[in-house]
Amino acid sequence: MSEGLEGVIAARTVLSDVDGAQGRLVIRGYAVEDLAGRTRYEEAAHLLFDGFFDDAPSDLAAVLGEARARVFAEVGALDDGLARRDPVEAMRALLARLPDGDDLRTALLLIAAPAVFTPAVLRVAAGEAPIAPDPALSHAADILRMTRDAPVTDAEAAALDAYLVTVCDHGLNASTFAARVVASTRAGLTSSVLAGLSALKGPLHGGAPGPVIDMLDAIGTPENARPWLERALARGDRLMGFGHRIYRVRDPRADALKAAVRTLASATGAAPGRLAFAEAVEQAALEILREHKPDRPLDTNVEFYTALLLEALGLPPASFTCVFAMGRVAGWLAHAREQLAGGRLIRPQSVYVGPEVRVAA
Ligand code: ACO
Repeated sequence: MSEGLEGVIAARTVLSDVDGAQGRLVIRGYAVEDLAGRTRYEEAAHLLFDGFFDDAPSDLAAVLGEARARVFAEVGALDDGLARRDPVEAMRALLARLPDGDDLRTALLLIAAPAVFTPAVLRVAAGEAPIAPDPALSHAADILRMTRDAPVTDAEAAALDAYLVTVCDHGLNASTFAARVVASTRAGLTSSVLAGLSALKGPLHGGAPGPVIDMLDAIGTPENARPWLERALARGDRLMGFGHRIYRVRDPRADALKAAVRTLASATGAAPGRLAFAEAVEQAALEILREHKPDRPLDTNVEFYTALLLEALGLPPASFTCVFAMGRVAGWLAHAREQLAGGRLIRPQSVYVGPEVRVAA
């Protein structure tokens, strides 16, 4: 038995390869740092869908724009009570209203859903009306426009694209595994995506970047980093944005996102202060983790610079997990289709350690 299935291989995939020893992530033959910053999300989704949806057009931009417009009809079900819930819970509830299916039309609606529902949830929670999608815009530009109802620069759309592409797939992570387990029962793509989203929500997976901002805000100054982090570890807390099940070195996505933060800051003329502060906190955290856990290499993971990038784009920390889902959903869908195409029902076994058999009273 392997606690947490560590080291267990449970699928063959052509979608992505995570090399934890070398700190490399390859998505369908491309290193993540080559894709991020050069590829729009629509292109990355096509790369993942290729061969899994025979009717997918070579350019997904137009059909994805139409899907955003179609899925906006579901926003009518968003009442004030739902919008006041955690944004992931509200978005998940809207997503659960979509019918199950295994075809491209269902898949496109599911990619569009987090992108359209999240801005709507944020706006209704703030007492404002949701903004309808503009199918002519790129996916990333439209997400930012629906969120803030203000013009979006090319640099901002490119930064969000870099993020969405960076996180679009990542081997058999917890949410992708959950999506594949559900796909293996042939429940349908919506059910798979709901399973993935529910797994992503937890702070040990996709729920970490919001708490990274809380941590940076609580630390406040570079001088306070070491004492604050020492106290957190002494309490038994985990430092958000550090550590990974697979990577024993730095997560390559951290550097791809840090580069995107820098590019965005130079395009907008933003002061580099926040990034420099975050780097100081990161260095302090890495030193302290080395001292406290000398036997367990713990390095920066994707969530640390996710937090910085999404914050620089003006997105609220409460929405960060939803934005993660906007990117990862293409990976969940491709994995679900891959599982359907060749996989058997996923059904591991457990070791019984309960009481001996006894006679029922
Ligand atoms: N801060 C402090 N200690 C840590 C951290 C951390 N961030 N991560 C791991 N450790 C410690 C554990 O407490 C444990 O110590 P112990 O053996 O003395 O109990 C040891 O390192 C090994 O930890 P595990 O829990 O076995 O590692 P696992 O592979 O299960 O966990 C995880 C990986 C969940 C990402 C973990 O590193 C963590 O909790 N990190 C913080 C949350 C986070 O950043 N999540 C986002 C991950 S990236 C993603 O999913 C997109």
